[in-house]
Amino acid sequence: MYRLIACSLLASWLFGITVAQVPPHCQPSFNGTVGNGKAGSEQRLNGTTIRKIKAPDANQGVAVDAEHFYSIDNFSITKHRKNNSAPVLQWYGGANGPIIHLDGGVVINGTLFAPHSNYPMAPITSSVEMWDVKTMQHIGSHSFGINRGSMTWLDQHNGNWYGTFANYDRVQPGQTQPYGLTMNTQMVQMNDKFEIVRSWIFPAILYNTFKPMSNSGGSFGKDGWLYITGHDASAAYVIKVPSAGSVLIWVATISLPDIAGQGIAWDRSGTGNGNLWGISRDSLEVVEMRVPTQACGPDAALPVGRVLGPRQFIDPSSD
Ligand SMILES: *[C@@H]1O[C@H](CO)[C@@H](O)[C@H](O)[C@H]1NC(C)=O
Ligand SMILES: *[C@@H]1O[C@H](CO)[C@@H](O)[C@H](O)[C@H]1NC(C)=O
Ligand SMILES: *[C@@H]1O[C@H](CO)[C@@H](O)[C@H](O)[C@H]1NC(C)=O
Ligand SMILES: *[C@@H]1O[C@H](CO)[C@@H](O)[C@H](O)[C@H]1NC(C)=O
Ligand SMILES: *[C@@H]1O[C@H](CO)[C@@H](O)[C@H](O)[C@H]1NC(C)=O
Repeated sequence: MYRLIACSLLASWLFGITVAQVPPHCQPSFNGTVGNGKAGSEQRLNGTTIRKIKAPDANQGVAVDAEHFYSIDNFSITKHRKNNSAPVLQWYGGANGPIIHLDGGVVINGTLFAPHSNYPMAPITSSVEMWDVKTMQHIGSHSFGINRGSMTWLDQHNGNWYGTFANYDRVQPGQTQPYGLTMNTQMVQMNDKFEIVRSWIFPAILYNTFKPMSNSGGSFGKDGWLYITGHDASAAYVIKVPSAGSVLIWVATISLPDIAGQGIAWDRSGTGNGNLWGISRDSLEVVEMRVPTQACGPDAALPVGRVLGPRQFIDPSSD
C-alpha cells in the first residue's frame, strides 16, 4: 500500500506537468460540450497543406483510396491518380439525370458510396449512390425518400455506417419557409442495410457557427475520432458520441486554411494516421492536408453522474 502511494506520488511529481497539459478530450472526467463547457475551450490544432490540385469538379467533396482520389460535384466524379494527380476516368450524369446533388463520398472495398439529395428542392429527399471505382460505372442506389433532411456525408466505422441528414435556416428560392432549420440537423448511425439505429444532434454552440447552412462533411480518422466540417469555415471539428443523451460532444477544432467547409475524406489506406483530403470550392482545388494526430482515443466512456451513499444525498432543489 505504502509503496503504491509512494509510486503514485513519484509519478505525479515526475509527470505532473504532462498531466496538466492533457488536452480536454483526453481527460477521463471530461463531460462538457467542449473542454469546460464553453466554446473556445476545446483543443485547438493547426493542419498544414501538403498540396493543392486543380479539379473542375472539386465543388462538393472528395473521396480517396490507396491509389486514387475522386473529386465530386453535383453530378460528376473524376478519378485521379494520387501519385501524379492525373485524371484517368470521369463519371458524368448530366444536369437532366436522376443524380442532381452529390455531396461527397467514401471508398470502401472498391465501391464509392456518395451521399445524394435533391437540395434545395422540396420535399427534401436523400439517397446513397454507389460506383465501382475500377470502371466508374454507377452500380447501386439506396433511397431514403423523405427522411430527416439532406444527406451530406457518409462513412463507415467499426462496422456501422454514420452520416448526417442536414437541415438549413436558409429559405430556398421559390420557398416560403427555412429549409428544415439548422438545429434539426442530425447525425445518424445506420446498420448495413442503411437502417437508422441511433441519432444525435450537434451542440448549439457548434451548429450556430454553421448557420444558415449546416454540417457538410464528415470522415473517421484511423485514430478513431470523427472529423466533421461546416459549410464555409476553414476548419474541421473533432466530435465524440456522448455516454448519455442525444447531444454530440465537440472536443477539438483543427484549423485548415486552404479548405472552406464541404466534403472531407481521411486517407486510411497507408500506415500511420494518413492525410486528410478536402476541397476549395472557390479555387476548384482538391487539398491534401496533414493533421496532428489526437493524443488519445475516443472510446473511453465518460462518467455520467455519481452514486451517493446515506448522508451524502443531494437535494436537487439546492443545485
Ligand atoms: C496555430 O496557428 C495560429 C496562427 O498561426 C497560432 O497562433 C497558434 O499558436 C497555432 N497553434 C498551434 C497549436 O500550433
Ligand atoms: C450544385 O447544386 C447547387 C444546388 O442546386 C447549386 O446551387 C450549384 O450552383 C451547383 N453547382 C454547380 C457547379 O453546378
Ligand atoms: C503513377 O502511377 C502510374 C501507374 O502506376 C505510373 O504509370 C506513373 O509512372 C506514376 N507516376 C509517377 C510520377 O510516379
Ligand atoms: C470486398 O469486395 C469483394 C468483391 O466485391 C468481396 O469478395 C469481399 O468480401 C469484400 N470485402 C469486404 C471486407 O467487404
Ligand atoms: C464534469 O467533470 C468535472 C471535472 O472535469 C467534474 O468536476 C464534474 O462533476 C463533472 N460533471 C458531471 C455532471 O459529471
